[in-house]
Amino acid sequence: AETKKIAVIAGDGIGPEVVAEAEKVLHKVGEVFGYSFETEHALFGGIAIDEKGTPLPAETLEVCKRADAVLLGAVGGPKWDNNPKELRPETGLLGIRKELGLFSNLRPAVVFDCLKDASTLKPEVLEGTDLMVVRELTGGIYFGEKFRRQTEQGEEAVDTCAYNAAEVERIARQAFDIAMKRRKKLASVDKANVLETSRLWRETVIRIAEEYPEVELEHVLVDNCAMQLLRRPSSFDVIVTENMFGDILSDEAAMLTGSIGMLASASLGEGSYGLYEPVHGSAPDIAGQGLANPIATILSTALMLRLTFGYGEAADAIERAVAEVLDAGHRTSDIAAGRAEALSTTQMGELILNAIRK
Ligand code: NAD
Ligand code: IPM
Ligand code: MN
Repeated sequence: AETKKIAVIAGDGIGPEVVAEAEKVLHKVGEVFGYSFETEHALFGGIAIDEKGTPLPAETLEVCKRADAVLLGAVGGPKWDNNPKELRPETGLLGIRKELGLFSNLRPAVVFDCLKDASTLKPEVLEGTDLMVVRELTGGIYFGEKFRRQTEQGEEAVDTCAYNAAEVERIARQAFDIAMKRRKKLASVDKANVLETSRLWRETVIRIAEEYPEVELEHVLVDNCAMQLLRRPSSFDVIVTENMFGDILSDEAAMLTGSIGMLASASLGEGSYGLYEPVHGSAPDIAGQGLANPIATILSTALMLRLTFGYGEAADAIERAVAEVLDAGHRTSDIAAGRAEALSTTQMGELILNAIRK
């Protein structure tokens, strides 16, 4: 098979720890299935600020652009938290999403049966939960005009939230397309009772829905959705929402699966090119201790194989390996629920790697 090029930008905190495990899994999959992967590493985030003076060096962006897909760890940390905007790791993350045109962020939350006890919710509530958050990723309040100004009441800060119809249309189509391949249910989440952007969002989703008569569409206000996610998670199939609501709701959805360390993501544009990263951050509180759960990043690699390379069988093999290792009772501390003896990041990675077979 032809060689697939993968840009690896591990970032900060636990980023390099979890990415290292995902890379080993990737190469194992290559051996088992006869695929050839070539990785190229580049600096990104806080470490890039320290070494190159910017969170997203031009060279890093080039490495990503000439690759077929990107594997990302996480960025950020207390060291850079008081930096000005241009010198924040998070600004690099927003920049790379925008530069690569990755407007659609898929965040699947699947409850592994054996992990029902790892969640803080009751097992019977979690039963059958398998949902996908489709988060708009390059618009909204994250990317609107931001500034500060002096007023008579003191300094004022402004963040602008803007969406145009084309931006809503393309993410709505992505979500409907995904729903068509799943249980054909779509919940569009907005705050149309208050926000003008949400009213445009809802009108647009309703218009696009005409192209998808088979999909059952509901509109849910974001505050209600936050509640319904805990009350009836298994009733959701696909959730489509704007950038900031999607950020918040997906961390909430992570807890259905037992831990934020379980949630994978894919960021896509119009083609098959994609950036794959765990939903969690750099976890400064546990960084450097070998405590991080690598499963979110390993499952993100499975998404890369399936969505960018079309290697569905290999993706299935990774997901099966993860399920097998969890079924056997192996846990990192975030999902141990005080029960099993906790494994380190590398021990968990190794078990999963060894469970990969055709
Ligand atoms: P976080 O996701 O890094 O951590 C939240 C909590 O979850 C912490 O207690 C952490 O220890 C735990 N956790 C996260 N990932 C885990 C894993 N794989 N295994 C076990 N436990 C895990 O969120 P935060 O603490 O709010 O943010 C820390 C930094 O990360 C900030 O600088 C933030 O901006 C950044 N961040 C980056 C990304 C990204 O790169 N995509 C995402 C979110 C936050
Ligand atoms: C995420 C993160 C980022 C976001 C931050 C770090 C900019 O929370 O990927 O979910 O808000 O998109
Ligand atoms: Mn987030």
